[in-house]
Amino acid sequence: MNRREFAARSLAAVAGAAFVSGGDFAAAQTGAASDPGAIPDSVIKAARFPEGFLWGVATASYQNEGAWNADGKGESIWDRFTHTPGKVRGGVTGDVACDQYHLYPQDIALAKQLHVKSYRFSISWPRIQPAGVGAPNMKGIDHYSRFVDALLEAGIRPWCTMYHWDLPQALEERGGWPNRELAGYFADYAGILAKHLGDRITVWAPFNMPWAIAFMGYAAGAFPPCRTSFSDFLKAAHTLALAQAEAHRAVKAASPHATVGSAYEMAPAYPKTDSEDDRAAAARYHAMNNVFFLEATMKGRYPNAFVGEPPLEVMGFKAGDEKLLYAPLDWVGFHYYTRRVVQDASKEKFQSGGAFSGTEIENNSPGGRDPYTRFRAAMPTEGPLTEAGLEVWPRGMYDLVTKISHDYNHPIIEITESGCGYLDGPDEEQQGRIPDLRRIVWYRETLAELARAMAEGARVRAFHAWTLLDNFQWAEGYTERYGLIYTDFRNQKRTIKDSGYWYSRVAAANRLDV
Ligand code: FCB
Repeated sequence: MNRREFAARSLAAVAGAAFVSGGDFAAAQTGAASDPGAIPDSVIKAARFPEGFLWGVATASYQNEGAWNADGKGESIWDRFTHTPGKVRGGVTGDVACDQYHLYPQDIALAKQLHVKSYRFSISWPRIQPAGVGAPNMKGIDHYSRFVDALLEAGIRPWCTMYHWDLPQALEERGGWPNRELAGYFADYAGILAKHLGDRITVWAPFNMPWAIAFMGYAAGAFPPCRTSFSDFLKAAHTLALAQAEAHRAVKAASPHATVGSAYEMAPAYPKTDSEDDRAAAARYHAMNNVFFLEATMKGRYPNAFVGEPPLEVMGFKAGDEKLLYAPLDWVGFHYYTRRVVQDASKEKFQSGGAFSGTEIENNSPGGRDPYTRFRAAMPTEGPLTEAGLEVWPRGMYDLVTKISHDYNHPIIEITESGCGYLDGPDEEQQGRIPDLRRIVWYRETLAELARAMAEGARVRAFHAWTLLDNFQWAEGYTERYGLIYTDFRNQKRTIKDSGYWYSRVAAANRLDV
């Protein structure tokens, strides 16, 4: 049994009906076996967050809302995907999900109860423009308007992602993200949002995880529209980079209060060996998977993510695009879940895609990840794995935040998502209480590492736990649970997990030994 499992099990034994307290943790961890990733208790105890730190949660439209065809909403590529047999584990869909489209007042009340100060949500583009272009559907606007009002009434900052993967299907039929025209359509959509909601929303991010939109959708084929073309991937990436800047300008033009940032996925990359080749491969991973879109917007050019010359022609890069890409962010937002270990694959012969599955789509391809970046990225298993299969590696939070802070001249940072998947459910012998201790341990350690980076000068102003409620987890369907609140999908009943109560105490105290 490793140190974390020992801690979690001992806690389960001592917690009883009372909530877990710091003293129990300390006792439970004394004498624990070695776990190379575990964070010492002294670091957890020392962690402090400043007054006014924005404790948040992150959510996304398709994963929570349901109401897939209500009030004039158009079809999205995720509706099409989940309605296609064989795509999603268990054959389930997001047609109902958490039914948050109807139940949001209750969910916002729960967020308030957890002392949440910032609520990151996304707007479903096909609710606003059912076919992706043209005049807005006012019923869609009204829904989000009420939603934002409810947040403000609860004293919670509304934080809007304009696109969390649910592209109008009609735009996929016009070529999807590899079609450069989508940058303009997206900017129009962004302008509509800012015009109607910009009096109340001041914190905007164009895309959730643009690399994943391009790679998972167009190269790996794991997500809709399920294409497997590396050139489509590169074209899509370029359109997304243009679109984030166009949207930035559109939002600023329509709303004087707007600030624009990002919600990039990032995983700190460590070279597999100390060889120059592996170090260069890890740098390519960082350039492609972590900062490709950040560099594009901050500097108007792409970082060197490629072996050899950047494939600008394949990307559809035109003279003058440097200017279009440039729109420096007001603050930098990114996610942290886990890390990668990266190995050079530039000398391997086969360069085709290979098999992709689950979360580790970069791995297991016969000839490196793709013919342009040519590295092999793996998720190590030195630390324990969550039930969603990601390695627990809190130190990665410190390394990543420190690096981004240093490389981009100490910007304001927001952690846009961070969390873990464990399946704990109601314990019938304890009146339905949900003792998800492994999640508490995960957050304690990851947040302690965040606090350490902040103590050394990183200007982090917000942390968003992924996620408020267990919800639809993409191609994994309902088989992974990331929530601070348990969702019973049979009857939509919500139950706050022990981790949710713990998070609320952390948010109230700005410390972790609560
Ligand atoms: C991230 C996604 C988010 C959620 C978490 C678990 O990659 O942004 O929607 O599914 O993973």
